[in-house]
Amino acid sequence: MNPDMYMQRLRARTDKETLAVGRRPRFFINTYGCQMNARESEQLSGALELAGFEPAPLETEADLVLYNTCCVRENAENKIIGNLGLSKFRKETKPDLIVVFCGCMAREKEMLAYLTERHGYIDIIFGTNNRRRFPEMLCKFLETGQRVIDVSDDAQTDAPESDMDARALVARHRQYKTGVNVMYGCDNFCAYCIVPYVRGRERSREPGDILREVAALADDGVKEIMLLGQNVNSYGANLKSPVTFAELLRKVNGVGKLSRIRFMTSHPKDFSDELIDALRDCEKVCKSVHLPLQSGSGRVLAAMNRRYTQEGYLALTERLRASVPGVAITTDIIVGFPGETEEDFLETLRVVNRVRFEGAFTFLYSKREGTPAAKMSDAVPAQIMKDRFKRLLETVNPIILAKNQSRVGETVQVMAEDDPPGKNGTLTGRADDNTLVHFCGKNPVAPGELLNVRITEAKTFYLTGTEA
Ligand code: 5AD
Ligand code: SF4
Repeated sequence: MNPDMYMQRLRARTDKETLAVGRRPRFFINTYGCQMNARESEQLSGALELAGFEPAPLETEADLVLYNTCCVRENAENKIIGNLGLSKFRKETKPDLIVVFCGCMAREKEMLAYLTERHGYIDIIFGTNNRRRFPEMLCKFLETGQRVIDVSDDAQTDAPESDMDARALVARHRQYKTGVNVMYGCDNFCAYCIVPYVRGRERSREPGDILREVAALADDGVKEIMLLGQNVNSYGANLKSPVTFAELLRKVNGVGKLSRIRFMTSHPKDFSDELIDALRDCEKVCKSVHLPLQSGSGRVLAAMNRRYTQEGYLALTERLRASVPGVAITTDIIVGFPGETEEDFLETLRVVNRVRFEGAFTFLYSKREGTPAAKMSDAVPAQIMKDRFKRLLETVNPIILAKNQSRVGETVQVMAEDDPPGKNGTLTGRADDNTLVHFCGKNPVAPGELLNVRITEAKTFYLTGTEA
């Protein structure tokens, strides 16, 4: 059946319910994990609005609660399982509450079995690559009352044009910025990472489809676009007419009305000189690169299957800093990968001190069943892991603070956010490199507006200033 037919059936149902109850049924989405999940939750809320639901101000006021999940680390999963408790509890007094569970966690075999058996109050479970069939699943559930569990990997339904996508254009979390998927999945199989198993093989979208989506978003008021993929640097290689990510970036840069373009994530092994040139040349592309290091030790990098060396990584960051003046380089680092020795860890600190990152996400290694690393012996004892984690932060954070302090007195361009003003009416914005800036404005500002802010004070995680 045409997917939009399910939407019409849902709409007819919710219209009837609205007449009977006097208000539209309400939904609430809990989103966990990466920017890609955030964007996919926008698409799902667009679908729900099209089906006649309206957003609930609070989870406890929702008639449908959806969990869009992440399984990249165990603590994320534990938190999600904990948060499910609220729906289980609510369902005891509100049996018609609809509970939907989707995303990466649903694609883990053992997790799915556990959810199916032990969390009987969940009504619908779907995966990552079949989310476009959510309206069909919701329709089936409402019409039959039977649980719907389908986590199939039907990449063909990733066709970008549908009512659901069109609706996502307006169902954004923030009106002035959003993400656009340029590709799905990952083929890199880093030894610790579960993403390739739950999100499937790498598939790039056609540049024409991406550009149409970006242009439609810009027409609808979006000022900042984040181009999203697990590894954007390998974008386009498998298209019928191959296109590089650098070429795509230049095309997106040509879309009128947009103010800023970001992209993530880059894999160091694929970062070409052509992309460095595009980053330098494209005036709307923020001079900011997220370049996960994971480890500074060549031995650990090889065991992680990262396919670059410490020297290669350092050379790339030096090329970036030399070619793109003022570029901000941020990173991800894992401590405690199986077999990581004190010497390996010191190599990571060495790279941190050499590159002097503008920002870093640091993680304790988390064993993920089904990945090659899960079978490795030589687990690093928890106490040593924690100690290394602490020392890593003690190295990373003072560098970030010193870098921020060196910006005091500078005037930086900031895009105003839509956060409510803080005490004394302070506003919030993001600098070109995504650093948070709290500032006092001269006049009322619209979210998405670009302003010049003179920096007066610096902390590790934000800057303070006054509109210039
Ligand atoms: N354990 C800890 N961190 C992980 N990441 C991915 N898999 C794991 C894992 N098993 C981190 C990587 C990646 C980021 C998104 O999450 O640093 O870049
Ligand atoms: Fe995971 Fe590596 Fe793919 Fe990133 S590049 S999603 S870390 S397998």
